[in-house]
Amino acid sequence: MTGWLRRRALSLYERLLERELGGAPSHVAVIQDGNRRYAESRGKEKTEGHRAGAETTEAMLRWCRDLGVEELTLYAFSTENFDRPEDEREALFDLIESKLRGFADRDEVHENGVRIRAIGEVERLPERVRDAVAYADRRTRGYDDLRLNVALAYGGRAELLNAARAAARDVAAGRLSPADIDAAELDRRLASRPTRDVDLIIRTGGDERTSNFLPWHANGNEAAVFFCTPYWPEFRRVDFLRAIRTYEAREESWRRTRARRALALVSSFRGTDLPEARRVLDRLRGSLSEEELAEAGVEGAAD
Ligand code: FPP
Ligand code: MG
Repeated sequence: MTGWLRRRALSLYERLLERELGGAPSHVAVIQDGNRRYAESRGKEKTEGHRAGAETTEAMLRWCRDLGVEELTLYAFSTENFDRPEDEREALFDLIESKLRGFADRDEVHENGVRIRAIGEVERLPERVRDAVAYADRRTRGYDDLRLNVALAYGGRAELLNAARAAARDVAAGRLSPADIDAAELDRRLASRPTRDVDLIIRTGGDERTSNFLPWHANGNEAAVFFCTPYWPEFRRVDFLRAIRTYEAREESWRRTRARRALALVSSFRGTDLPEARRVLDRLRGSLSEEELAEAGVEGAAD
């Protein structure tokens, strides 16, 4: 296919996909992987790969805004990334610093009410990056339309451990009863919590792992996961739309499973005088197909 035809077909496919989609997930988290391999495959320096990746990051922010995503969390620097060679690490810090300041100064960010925050052990970062984090935080503090969380020096296990330790300390000091440690209590103690649970995790670059990223807010919420092969700098809007379709298919299958389970339960009350049970049964009838109703031993039409 010629380049022109390919582009035309892609844009048609993108429009079709977009038309097919219902609601966007509220919170998307991205493991932006493959920057160095992208650079290597083009005979370029590693840092060129990270720079190209940062361009996709900017585009991703626009796509999220256009599609109605309310929160975007990006894995920009993990605790493991501290082990990278110093020159690469420092170049990454320079890039993150300049992107954070660039985002915070951009008209688009202010026009669209984008709130920028960092999550992670920010105190482990060099001062110039911490200053940029504080700058972005300060300049966007009043906004809430789209939340951009940049995960820096972030590791999910470390975060959970710190929360557990803090709770244990309060129990030892008699300030907290073990019986009061529930999900909400632990959630409150996570130092870098995003605003809401994660609905969809995307990982580029071909690896099928979620790498210690948001275990509480994503795994705990049974987020949909979309693994794809393009390197982060190659990730396009159409790949994002595909990821959203995966999320929607998963949501729909959950909805049907829940409806089937509830139907099985409620239909055991058939023939009783429980009006609530009959109302729920009637409602569930509408959300399942004839085959699913037959499987559950219930006819489609109301009794
Ligand atoms: C992983 O690819 C990518 C990173 C460690 C850096 C990601 C950071 C950016 C794209 C900058 C974004 C900036 C802001 C402020 C959000 P890799 O280095 O592991 O590449 P590989 O998998 O090919 O080795
Ligand atoms: Mg990698």
